[in-house]
Amino acid sequence: MNIITVKDYAEMSQKAAAYIIEKVRQTPSLRLGLATGGTPVGTYQNLINDHQKNNTTYRDVLTFNLDEYIGLTGDNKNSYRFFMDDNLFNHIDIKKNNTFIPRGDGENFETECREYEDLLAKHGGVDLQILGIGSNGHIGFNEPGTSFESKTHVVNLAPSTIEANARFFNSMEEVPTQAITMGISSIMKSKEILLLVSGESKRDAMKKLLNGEVTESFPASILNNHPSVTIIADQAALSD
Ligand code: F6R
Repeated sequence: MNIITVKDYAEMSQKAAAYIIEKVRQTPSLRLGLATGGTPVGTYQNLINDHQKNNTTYRDVLTFNLDEYIGLTGDNKNSYRFFMDDNLFNHIDIKKNNTFIPRGDGENFETECREYEDLLAKHGGVDLQILGIGSNGHIGFNEPGTSFESKTHVVNLAPSTIEANARFFNSMEEVPTQAITMGISSIMKSKEILLLVSGESKRDAMKKLLNGEVTESFPASILNNHPSVTIIADQAALSD
């Protein structure tokens, strides 16, 4: 794993955006895996700024998001579809038809999971996957204990994850308890992974990730087995 240490969230966001922009310029039809949550918001803002200033184009880019809450339609402001439109897609020249996110408002989630996995395969998989990490080591919504063999599937969110997500909702009752997520094996198929980590709350997770033990009780530890992982982490996340 290649670790890039940066001063703070702002620098992490700049460096991550620069990394993505270079890939998009090299490969205009890049298949880009995206994450939601607080960590990548600054990165997306930098992509938008660059698009406006330097005209980097996303015309031929395909995006695949890691996950979506179950029970929320795309126009619900707490859905990940809404989040991605609002924080990135509406502000760059990507074709909405080329932005894929699992659907959490369908009727048959088993079919949805299978179809999402087929979609990834049909497009040749993800070239560059952006990841955040949960304080319990989750990646996507693959909570501790998830099989490393897992494909796209339905998950019950861990209490700590529900709690961490509550800041985006008006009340605890509104916070979804289930989600569809790409599985760990789906994520590991990405040719390259860029993990973004910022803040003190991620310090323990970083320590576990970097100690090298690979265990299903700490999902992100599987990244130690991936041939091409870059981590951009700020000092607060690393200072131990
Ligand atoms: C979101 C996702 C999650 C987040 C993780 C960290 O699509 O896949 O694994 O990356 O929960 O969230 P933040 O960035 O809010 O700390």
